[in-house]
Amino acid sequence: MNTTCTPVETERTVLYVSNSPDQDLASFLAASGWQVMHAKNTATAERLIERGNIKVGLVELPSDCTSQHLSVLASCMRRVETNWVAQIAPGQAENELISRFILDYCFDFVTRPWLNDRLVFALGHAHGLSSLRHPPAAPEPSLGRHGMVGQCEAMQQLYRRIDKCSATEAPVFVAGESGTGKELTARAIHERSPRAGQAFVAINCAAIPPSLLQAELFGHERGAFTGALQRKIGRIESANEGTLFLDEIGDMPHECQAVLLRFLQEGTIERLGGNGPIKVDVRVISATHVDLDRAVEDGRFRSDLYHRLCVLRLIEPPLRERGGDIKLLANYALSMYRQDGARKLRGLSSDAIVAMSNYPWPGNVRELINCVRRAVVMSEGRFITANDLGLPEAENGPAVTLAEIRSKAEKDAIEHALQRHGYRLSEAAAELGISRATLYRLIHANRLHQEPAAGRASHANGADADDEAERHARSLV
Ligand SMILES: Nc1ncnc2c1ncn2[C@@H]1O[C@H](COP(=O)(O)OP(=O)(O)OP(=O)(O)O)[C@@H](O)[C@H]1O
Ligand SMILES: [Mg+2]
Repeated sequence: MNTTCTPVETERTVLYVSNSPDQDLASFLAASGWQVMHAKNTATAERLIERGNIKVGLVELPSDCTSQHLSVLASCMRRVETNWVAQIAPGQAENELISRFILDYCFDFVTRPWLNDRLVFALGHAHGLSSLRHPPAAPEPSLGRHGMVGQCEAMQQLYRRIDKCSATEAPVFVAGESGTGKELTARAIHERSPRAGQAFVAINCAAIPPSLLQAELFGHERGAFTGALQRKIGRIESANEGTLFLDEIGDMPHECQAVLLRFLQEGTIERLGGNGPIKVDVRVISATHVDLDRAVEDGRFRSDLYHRLCVLRLIEPPLRERGGDIKLLANYALSMYRQDGARKLRGLSSDAIVAMSNYPWPGNVRELINCVRRAVVMSEGRFITANDLGLPEAENGPAVTLAEIRSKAEKDAIEHALQRHGYRLSEAAAELGISRATLYRLIHANRLHQEPAAGRASHANGADADDEAERHARSLV
């Protein structure tokens, strides 16, 4: 049912949610310049909110209101663009559930019997505040064309490179720290390539026991080994005509590397226990968070395989180099998990954004998303604060001055010279090009130890007599 009255002054709309609307109140509101839209239940209310620009809501809480009722109401009162005023019965404000609900979702409340003027004042105030909320300058952060959030220069460059890689068939290697989006990049290349309609098969080489990895990649025939009860098609074969994503390739065991190399060179595979090569048409993308160049140098990774895999190379920028994207990603995470929280969250406070921008994010995007998700659940206010994020304090010590750098270098040099010369001052002073007296002064000024921590230098281990006497003298000071 719609109780729609002709607006008198300005076009202000209030959504009145009540299963037994008060007609006198509706008329009063209409006479006061409000257009009243009535919703008998939350489903109707939700539809109306979805449809238009509802800045103010008036919700009547039934006197026998249950937590179930409140959670249904909450689902339609979460949206930040609507400010709600609740009508409650006497005594309801003392009910903890209801008072919590009002604090979390309502701008104001009135208790029966209310003065209509008071109610109109509350609605006007709610409307005024809601009107201050300008539509966001930028649209809600969402996954862009490449399935990722990010606009910084480093990401723009990554997108351009993804596009170039998508246009060829050459193998791509994606490097980057943990949680930077290597898998997303691999998917983006596949989705934008001519193989997009075909399979994208990912295998995490680090997650499969080395003894099983070969069978997993190449498949096996029935009876190929104990336990091979039936034929199994391997991941490479399943990716035929599509893309194979070899994740954590840096952890691939050596034996498997040799077989993979053969597949890359010949474009054929052989199932374990099989009796002939099978031709496959697979585009390969690989990734790892380990330093593959170092792994090749150390002999842990075959260099011939490395060159086959790394024809094209992409590097994921770490989060700390993405500047303003941190805010975008945090808002994206908030929009994904907003519903997990028990209350109507309006957003991230500016101190939360500062804390996130100062934190080094060892786990990169994954860590940031998890952090915001956790804060959504744990926060108690309308905004997620720096405190809710629980990030360790950034080390914001004063900047290091040149004088401090010099004095640290001096202290280190003296300490090392003393250690090298078994705490024999004459020798250490000679090496440092200063007199014994100066060295002695500097040791004191820098509060350095004059002898090894583990024991006394003695004549037996070569300390000179003068130094020994000097040490003894100083120990008496
Ligand atoms: N730019 C981004 N926009 C949105 N979500 C992202 C972005 N980058 C990463 N993510 C999300 O972060 C998580 C980690 O991404 P992904 O698995 O692609 O990273 P990875 O580099 O492969 O991580 P790992 O080193 O742990 O394998 C995923 O949930 C992913 O959806
Ligand atoms: Mg990964």
